[in-house]
Amino acid sequence: MATYREFHRRSITDRDAFWREQAAAIEWHEPFRQVLDYSRPPFARWFVGGTTNLCHNAVDRHLKDRAGQNALIYISTETGQDRTYTFRELHAEVNRCAAVLREQGIVKGDRILIYMPMVPEAVFAMLACVRLGAIHSVVFGGFAAHSLASRIDDAKPKLLFTADAGMRGGKPIPYKGLVDEAIKLAAHPPQKVILVNRGIDGDLKLIAGRDLDYAHERAKHMDAQVPVTWLESSEPSYILYTSGTTGKPKGVQRDTGGYAVALAASMKHIYCGKPGEAMFTTSDIGWVVGHSYIVYGPLIHGMTTILYEGLPIRPDPAIWWKIVEQHKVSVMFSSPTAIRVLKKQDQAYLTRHDVSSLRYLFLAGEPLDEPTARWISDSLKVPVLDHYWQTETGWALLSSLPGIEATPLKFGSPGFPAYGYDVKLLHETTGEEVGANEKAVVTVVPPLPPGCMTTVWGQDERFVQTYFTSFKDKFVYTTFDWGIRDDDGYYFILGRTDDVINVAGHRLGTREIEEAVSGHNNIAEVAVVGVHDAIKGQVPMAFAVVKDASRVATAEGRSAMEKEVFDVVDTALGPVGRPSRVFFVAQLPKTRSGKVLRRSIQAIAEGRDPGDLTTLDDPGGIEQVHSAVTSGD
Ligand code: PRX
Repeated sequence: MATYREFHRRSITDRDAFWREQAAAIEWHEPFRQVLDYSRPPFARWFVGGTTNLCHNAVDRHLKDRAGQNALIYISTETGQDRTYTFRELHAEVNRCAAVLREQGIVKGDRILIYMPMVPEAVFAMLACVRLGAIHSVVFGGFAAHSLASRIDDAKPKLLFTADAGMRGGKPIPYKGLVDEAIKLAAHPPQKVILVNRGIDGDLKLIAGRDLDYAHERAKHMDAQVPVTWLESSEPSYILYTSGTTGKPKGVQRDTGGYAVALAASMKHIYCGKPGEAMFTTSDIGWVVGHSYIVYGPLIHGMTTILYEGLPIRPDPAIWWKIVEQHKVSVMFSSPTAIRVLKKQDQAYLTRHDVSSLRYLFLAGEPLDEPTARWISDSLKVPVLDHYWQTETGWALLSSLPGIEATPLKFGSPGFPAYGYDVKLLHETTGEEVGANEKAVVTVVPPLPPGCMTTVWGQDERFVQTYFTSFKDKFVYTTFDWGIRDDDGYYFILGRTDDVINVAGHRLGTREIEEAVSGHNNIAEVAVVGVHDAIKGQVPMAFAVVKDASRVATAEGRSAMEKEVFDVVDTALGPVGRPSRVFFVAQLPKTRSGKVLRRSIQAIAEGRDPGDLTTLDDPGGIEQVHSAVTSGD
């Protein structure tokens, strides 16, 4: 590991020289004056004074050498549509989209909310925003009206970019009604809605004066050339909301220059992709993995990116490998849940196609269990690299660096600290660094490296309070993850320290789900916990106390009430947050000070020992949870 160690050491102790070298991987309009301004901890400003643009680096820059190369390959097994765009064509589409936005008065600093299925127009819209210096806030298409409304009110977008519908498993998911509902709920609604009509929703109704049809607007700007707006490196590129302990998601704010440099560097050192090759990331543009490795990372690196709309098992479970074969994918990035889904299928699907172009399969987003890692690695005969990161970091915090050194892989470990991250494992209460094989909180000594969040949108104080105040005497960034390092220096992630759960790689706050469940008028109180699931990693499970107990007195009553709660969550949060079960109990287990014992509830739901119950106010609560779980009713 000597080469890796030296590379990592230099990134920390000779930080300026290290990042100055990395910064050469992108194009700057004006060079930066200073690598890092850290005069106001923890706010780091990378590449001060340099001006650049993400769209220029992802698109325009490649026109010189690779205009005719495919930039974006769109494959939809939902609609049967495939579309391919060369860098020249992508450039034209992004300019058209930027012209449409510009005509609506969008200028630098304006926010635009993008609520889109996995279609090329979503990518055009993201790139068009950053081209203009407008700040995009992409909201995952699985979120419902209430979640959308709260994100609208936080970012106050001038415009909302959406489509008539998404598709999942062959079924349409109408977006328009949901968007209308969210705009009704919002206190600061956008003035305009641009709608990509895919022809899925036959009843589509545009609201005059507010809604514009994208195809119609685009047609007005076929030859548009919209100049790039050069941004100072620290100026924001986007906001991406993520869940935490409170019910209110945080707007993770990303800069421009630092992010571009971080992604460009990661494409070389971590993913080992080569310009001209194809990268296939199976995430969604609504998540951070989609932002960094469907859209910006591969394009900045001059790679072809594959945008896939569909499930991993439709039309059959060989579909991903067929795509790999067809497009000679060299780097693939997916999630453990997806692999566990494939593991349940016939193994023959994995060998049907020639995947010899694949150099690596990267996985992230949730713990990767060893049997799954081994299974996929053996079946594909491709090295599988687990790596660990967060919406906040924007790129890997723990990873192997095959581009630097081919260190041996250990199943179950996402590797070791990536360059730029001064990782410390700190004891939960004392804040002291722990030794090998001791469980502790994963923290990073600031400044955070380029590419990481620069603040919480509009709430600098919340950024500091949330991430930098976990330890009394140590000013460190906390990941809210438990970790452990073995004798060889390999790290292992052991789950969250807070109330965040990870459902199929989707990060959700239990408080958000509790708030959604409480939206039902017969719910008095509810606790939601994450419960182990063999496929999805975790699923949310709710334990609720009702106001009118007569409604849940019979099995039929409980079942009807559970269904009503599902519906309430579906409309508030979206199906992503729907609990796997809602159990009705007469009381929740609480401490004498009234705090709900979520960890004990979780333990019981997973069939484990609930642990120390001495602080319990009334044992009745625990018994209720226990009997609900064991009877399944
Ligand atoms: O708990 C960790 C888990 O997912 C969280 C971050 O989720 P999100 O913000 O959606 O970003 C995902 C970016 C890949 C982390 O705090 N997590 C992420 N990767 C891993 C992981 N847990 C274990 N192993 C991983 N490789």
